[in-house]
Amino acid sequence: MRIDVLTIFPEMFEPLLGASMIGRARSLKVLETQVHDLRDWTHDFHRTVDDAPYGGGPGMVMMVEPLVRAIEAIQALDERRAHTIFFTPAGVPFTQARAGELAADFSRLLLVCGHYEGIDERAYLWADEEISIGDYVLTGGELPAHVLIDAVTRLLPGVLGDETSALDESFMKGLLEYPQYTRPAQFRGMMVPEVLLSGHHANIDAWRAEQALERTRRRRPDLLDEGGRVDTEQPGRRSS
Ligand code: ADE
Repeated sequence: MRIDVLTIFPEMFEPLLGASMIGRARSLKVLETQVHDLRDWTHDFHRTVDDAPYGGGPGMVMMVEPLVRAIEAIQALDERRAHTIFFTPAGVPFTQARAGELAADFSRLLLVCGHYEGIDERAYLWADEEISIGDYVLTGGELPAHVLIDAVTRLLPGVLGDETSALDESFMKGLLEYPQYTRPAQFRGMMVPEVLLSGHHANIDAWRAEQALERTRRRRPDLLDEGGRVDTEQPGRRSS
């Protein structure tokens, strides 16, 4: 997959794109990233990307012209058309299911990071999709872009060492993940649950399923239906 990022803070990307799983995906050539500075598509001395809102009000608005010039120029850098995502708190909430679809359905993404009080509404005509990463307001789309890159990259074939671990995780089955333990078996008087030491795989599977359901009931009842079962109608749930 190729991911292009359009931002006024390109320096926010290199440190994270080189580390951990993303760095691994890039060295494996499963992921290629290109980060572009929006100011490269301005024509004035001050490299202006924002202006005061028509109609008045606080803050500044990102101008449509540099944004669209940049998006069109970046699209032309590769023969694959980039599925273009704008980040905004007014977007559709991001889910594990959507991360899986983006990883499976597209070979190229263009992530547009908004800033200031917002983006000139006309620029959204160039968006294929608008995504929010949660009900809170960030200063810009850079952190949401990192979140999306991370969530999508780890689902690309060959990136996770153990392919099954992605499938087993929270949300893929509509439940939170069961508790995990590793050595030592006893720490400051706290024992690892007996069943996990038993070597009895059927019992372990049953215990984990029960724990996942119980934890979901306590922490995220919104993921369950009224009978306390996995809600197959959940918008973010991937049916499998
Ligand atoms: N930009 C500012 N806040 C955001 C959010 N919560 N999600 C996506 N983009 C944003």
